[in-house]
Amino acid sequence: MTLLRVDDMTHWFGGLQAVSGYNVAIEPGQIRGLIGPNGAGKTTVFNLITGRYRPTEGHIFLDGQEITGLPPHKIASMGLGRTFQNLRLWRHMTVLEHVKMARYSKITYGLAGAFFGTARRNREEDDIETRARELLELVGAVDWADHIVTNLPYGMQRRVELARALAIQPKILFLDEPTAGMNPEELVQMMEIVRLVHEQLGLAIFLIEHRMKVVMDLCEVIQTLVFGQVIAEGTPDEIRNDPRVIEAYLGKEVMA
Ligand SMILES: Nc1ncnc2c1ncn2[C@@H]1O[C@H](COP(=O)(O)OP(=O)(O)O)[C@@H](O)[C@H]1O
Ligand SMILES: [Mg+2]
Repeated sequence: MTLLRVDDMTHWFGGLQAVSGYNVAIEPGQIRGLIGPNGAGKTTVFNLITGRYRPTEGHIFLDGQEITGLPPHKIASMGLGRTFQNLRLWRHMTVLEHVKMARYSKITYGLAGAFFGTARRNREEDDIETRARELLELVGAVDWADHIVTNLPYGMQRRVELARALAIQPKILFLDEPTAGMNPEELVQMMEIVRLVHEQLGLAIFLIEHRMKVVMDLCEVIQTLVFGQVIAEGTPDEIRNDPRVIEAYLGKEVMA
């Protein structure tokens, strides 16, 4: 069964039609790309699906349940994790605390548990800590677990953000330009981590990138968005050779 489905989604910001008649269907475990020039509407597509904005028109389904217009935390708890184009980490918190904190949002001890369940609560806290360390291991940031996050190198901060998104145990993970602002070495490492996360956790991934090569290497199916409209959808080869895509990207460094 399709994991995420968007039907005919349109969004207006005042007089600007940022997204127009957008459709997508993502299967469990699939890794998908969304590319397009700056200002094409990619982040807006993510913000609409993840509940940050309510689409002017259209319907969104996660695991068969309609999520259109639900608040972001509700959609997250139903299994949609995300990272942001611009890093959003909490200052003064350690790396480990970041990942644990995200995990807590998924746990409810319950009222009875709060009174009687100390042993169980302790066990759950141990589990949370173990799981958080495992995720940090997976993204290659476990050596930084006890450091304050703002003291980490930029590329490492982005890995922490990824681990935090994974802590809610998403069925699908949205990554908005996870390599933005990275140097070439950090970029290659990040792409390897995304590949590893996909392999190890088997979740679906929806990846925004404006650098073509990155998505071409990773994704099974890619959509190209231009002025809020999908102008092409297909395998990396189909996208690479599509005249409409070539035209949209003509003369831009992003083909590299
Ligand atoms: N909150 C907003 N209010 C008004 N306009 C917005 C808002 N967010 C994005 N836009 C506009 O929508 C268009 C698409 O933006 P965005 O989705 O960020 O593009 P991309 O991520 O592809 O670079 C741009 O013209 C942008 O200025
Ligand atoms: Mg964007």
